[in-house]
Order: sequence, then structure tokens, then C-alpha cells
Amino acid sequence: MDPEDTAEDRIQAALANPQNMGEMSDADAVGTVGNPECGDMVRMWLKFTEKDGKKIIDRATFQSFGCQTAIAVASLATGMLKGKTVEEARQLQSSDLSKPLGPLPPMKLHCGDMVEGALRDALRHETDPAADPPPAQTAAPGNTLLGDIHPSAPRSGKLKIVKLK
Ligand code: FES
Repeated sequence: MDPEDTAEDRIQAALANPQNMGEMSDADAVGTVGNPECGDMVRMWLKFTEKDGKKIIDRATFQSFGCQTAIAVASLATGMLKGKTVEEARQLQSSDLSKPLGPLPPMKLHCGDMVEGALRDALRHETDPAADPPPAQTAAPGNTLLGDIHPSAPRSGKLKIVKLK
């Protein structure tokens, strides 16, 4: 990327070719977060694999009813997660996930926090197996975000949305 690019330029570039968008029917973990302030939501799906005896993230995808910044951060973050161990992923903060965009303007910081929140919710059961209920039981892995919130959509799992603090 051009070092002269602004965060807005980088967001637009990420939006022109968003990566890893869509539900994952064979996901091992799913996390959903919603921001009551702006009404936006992000869901993230994770698929794990084993490498050198460690559980690592093989794939990550997302869906968002969110602003352009949230979509751009989720696109970059899901690419960044591939190959990370659960512990490494757990350490990532929104500033890490949005780093390729450059510093976000203050009023857009919560957009990156949404992506971090969805990741944390998806990793919750991996981090604390006693966490109840496991994410996969609160949103069926193949469910779309729209399918879960639309009143006429058939339900195959309970919807749990973590509110962004
Ligand atoms: Fe709500 Fe960006 S304005 S996620």
C-alpha cells in the first residue's frame, strides 16, 4: 500500500475486494457481537486444524451488518488469523486487527472493537471450556447472520449476541 494513503483510502481498497466473507457451514466456532449504539453486528466463524501438536486457525470467515470500516477490518482480520494458534489469536486486539488500515479515526475505533468482540466470542469456548453455553450451540455454524435475525427465517439454533461494551 502507498504510505501516503489515508485510512479512508485503505478502507476503500479493502472494500473493493473483501476477503473471507460468508458463513462457514463446517465451522468449529462462531461468535456474534452487536453494538447497541450503532446497531451494527459482526459474526465470525473459525475452523481449526492441528499443526505440530497445536490447535491453529485454518480458516476464518465473517458476515457483517456494519459500516464499511467494520467490513474492511473483518476482511483483513480473517486473513490475518489463518495459521495463528488459539492463544495467539486471543492476544490480538482491535488495533492489531485493523493495523493494515493505519490508525482509525476515533469515531471508528468501535468498528474494529466489533471485530475483536466477534473473535473473542468465537474463541470463548476454546479459551475456557467451562464457558457455557459453547458458541457452536448458540449460533449454529452454518447459520447466516441475516437468517438468525430475520423474523421469518427458519431457526436451527439459538441466537446469542454479545453486546459490545
Ligand atoms: Fe458501528 Fe462502524 S459505525 S461498526
